[in-house]
Amino acid sequence: MSAAKVDLVIKGGRVVSESGIVDANIAVTDGKIAGIFAPALAPDATQVIDATGRYVLPGLIDVHVHFREPGMAHKENWTTGSQAAAVGGVTTVFEMPNTDPPTDNLNNLATKRDLAERQSIVDFGLYGLLGEHNLSELERLADGGVIGFKLFLGNTTGDLPCPDDGAVLEGFEILASLGLRCSIHAENSPILFWRQRALQAAKRNDPLAHLAARTDVVALEALNRSATLAEWTGARIHIVHESCARSIDFIKFWKGRGVDLTVETLPQYLYLDAEMMLDDGGEVIRMNPPIREKAHQEPLWQAVLDGTIDMISTDHAPHAIEEKRGDDVWKLACGFPGVETSLPLMLTAVNRGRLRIEDIAKLMAASPARAFGLYGQKGVIAVGADADITLVDLNAEAVLSASSLHSKGKCSAYEGMTVKGLPVMTLVRGHVVAKNGEPVAEQPRGRMVSPTMPAPRPRNQATTLKAVLEPHQKPYGDPF
Ligand code: DOR
Ligand code: ZN
Repeated sequence: MSAAKVDLVIKGGRVVSESGIVDANIAVTDGKIAGIFAPALAPDATQVIDATGRYVLPGLIDVHVHFREPGMAHKENWTTGSQAAAVGGVTTVFEMPNTDPPTDNLNNLATKRDLAERQSIVDFGLYGLLGEHNLSELERLADGGVIGFKLFLGNTTGDLPCPDDGAVLEGFEILASLGLRCSIHAENSPILFWRQRALQAAKRNDPLAHLAARTDVVALEALNRSATLAEWTGARIHIVHESCARSIDFIKFWKGRGVDLTVETLPQYLYLDAEMMLDDGGEVIRMNPPIREKAHQEPLWQAVLDGTIDMISTDHAPHAIEEKRGDDVWKLACGFPGVETSLPLMLTAVNRGRLRIEDIAKLMAASPARAFGLYGQKGVIAVGADADITLVDLNAEAVLSASSLHSKGKCSAYEGMTVKGLPVMTLVRGHVVAKNGEPVAEQPRGRMVSPTMPAPRPRNQATTLKAVLEPHQKPYGDPF
């Protein structure tokens, strides 16, 4: 029966979805899942992967990585970044626009796409920048297939200026009618710069001065401003790297009001705390928003478990190690690698009984896919979906260390920590891209993915800047 032969069968594993676990064999043809069979059944296949004793997860989607090309390839490039992702069980990354040049027009998008297509061993979405200078480019970038937009309200690597609030409102008006999601670095720039200048004047250059500049209200204000403008316009927003326990009630409030708001947190906010910055070499965990006091961790875990926080991503932010070390905190690069350690860290939490492996399928695959218009194609093991699959050995252990990272950023915030639960094989559209902690790809085959979002739901359209610029328009908002 050679006609019925499929390309690949992944046999004997425990297949995980957000709603449960079933023992099943998975058939793959032409890079897509062609069938899911009871353990006793499986079609003939050209290749068989024995998944006995393994959990079979939908390939992970990390909606927040910085792969640095073009412009900062000494920190990372698409080869090393995508290899790190593959080793970490991540099959699709969404890459941030704070490169040099930033991804702020079609030309720069094409440059980045070309670099990624030539090198990436995993699939990728590319963010466009929402900046004050490029509002007229947003529609073109959407047509160019960006996965969504990124708005830097808070200053970070690349020093992209925070747009004026008027520009943010106009940007949201445009994005609301396009329907794409806008990921937001929600920190208040004027406050954090004001405090930083005062701290510097007072000769506070110690690691904790960074947290002092960016205390909770810096994040809270920007979260609530973002949500206010999103509600008014109907823009879809995603809050990146939520670090702050005090935000949680506000996230519930805005979601309860019907704002199309999704939120991510990062393993580093769940595992690290500010005191660690005082350890020898601890300054390397400087990042934006800062690693906060330990008291934030437990509420963040609870918000992950109860669904207030939708997903886990990494803010994989590699830098050369020399850029990360030194005595003056203000001079240190912000951020550190994460894409290859996040799954082991989250599986360790599964082994500790903090969450279930089904929660991993939701937080790291299904929810990101749903939020950014990829669900069905990605984020789920189902017939017709891309065969993006991550095999996990929940009993395997490893000691995390900077030297074993595949990222160019040889910096570990978790040096010496033992993790339990490792990805042992990663497949992108049916091709093995990593095995037992090492990348394996005969050639880069990463493809760009673009979103299919639900119909846009703009609000208050009679008050948009575009509408009121027309003569004789009545600038009346929606009834309430
Ligand atoms: O610490 C950070 N580093 N936070 C960000 O938001 C950006 C990132 C980077 O690009 O280095
Ligand atoms: Zn980031």
